[in-house]
Amino acid sequence: MFENAKEIILKADAILISAGAGMGVDSGLPDFRGRDGFWRAYPMAKELGLSFEELANPRWFKDDPNLAWKFYGHRLLLYRDTTPHDGFYKLLELANSKKYGYFVFTSNVDGQFQKAGFDSDKIVEVHGSIHHLQCVNRCCDDIWSAKNENLNSHPKCPKCNSLARPNILMFGDWEWIENRTHYQYQKLNQWLYDIDKANLAILEFGAGHSVPTVRMFSEDIARRKNAKLIRVNPRDSDVPNGAISLSLKAKEAIDVICK
Ligand SMILES: NC(=O)c1ccc[n+]([C@@H]2O[C@H](COP(=O)([O-])OP(=O)(O)OC[C@H]3O[C@@H](n4cnc5c(N)ncnc54)[C@H](O)[C@@H]3O)[C@@H](O)[C@H]2O)c1
Ligand SMILES: [Zn+2]
Repeated sequence: MFENAKEIILKADAILISAGAGMGVDSGLPDFRGRDGFWRAYPMAKELGLSFEELANPRWFKDDPNLAWKFYGHRLLLYRDTTPHDGFYKLLELANSKKYGYFVFTSNVDGQFQKAGFDSDKIVEVHGSIHHLQCVNRCCDDIWSAKNENLNSHPKCPKCNSLARPNILMFGDWEWIENRTHYQYQKLNQWLYDIDKANLAILEFGAGHSVPTVRMFSEDIARRKNAKLIRVNPRDSDVPNGAISLSLKAKEAIDVICK
């Protein structure tokens, strides 16, 4: 399997990297695998008896802003403080060495690819980004950077002064402003169009079953572009016919396949 994966990567001249929360685990970040996994990472949610799906709901910004910002504020500070593991850098070096370069598609909201030096014009953050904010009341479609927020007080909308929230797609979320992600998608589609003749390899890391956005995306592009899919996941490593499964942690797998 490793030899196959290595050969695919060697022969590829374009790399599509897709990633779920498992990509960040080797940097010390929690994934939210299952209710117990989420509760291990957020004991406060356990005390309240709230699952990830229940807590990651925009209604808390209206019903209990302190609770909402306790959860998202903690995550924002955690992701700001995290250093991407070596695998990110090795992957970037590999991707940059290819004739047609790379694109990243991730459901992570943590900004770790940008932090590791990946070009922000080559990343789709399909569920948005915690480093960006929007108005809770959607008074306008503005999305702005959270970099000036120290979180000593709850972030506010500069236009109408009501509460701000992360520009993240939550569960049951009708107010998420999708413009930024939509624009990223347009760039990805243009790239996929431009590299139509390329030998594309898809490398997927740490994408789970519970919110299968990333897995479905990887499988869909593999089919449509007749590309090889390499799925890296220490547990959820089942793959469709024709794809390669590496049952390893992201960092280990990158070490092996980038050698
Ligand atoms: N860092 C983040 O931004 C973050 C973190 C947790 C959840 N989320 C959000 O929650 C949802 C969760 O879905 P998900 O599938 O990304 O996460 P998930 O927590 O449901 O699943 C994580 C997956 O990563 C795998 N994994 C665990 N350790 C790994 C490692 N060391 N290397 C590689 N893989 C490993 C697990 O087996 C699992 O399949 C998404 O919508 C996402 O937006 C984001
Ligand atoms: Zn507003």
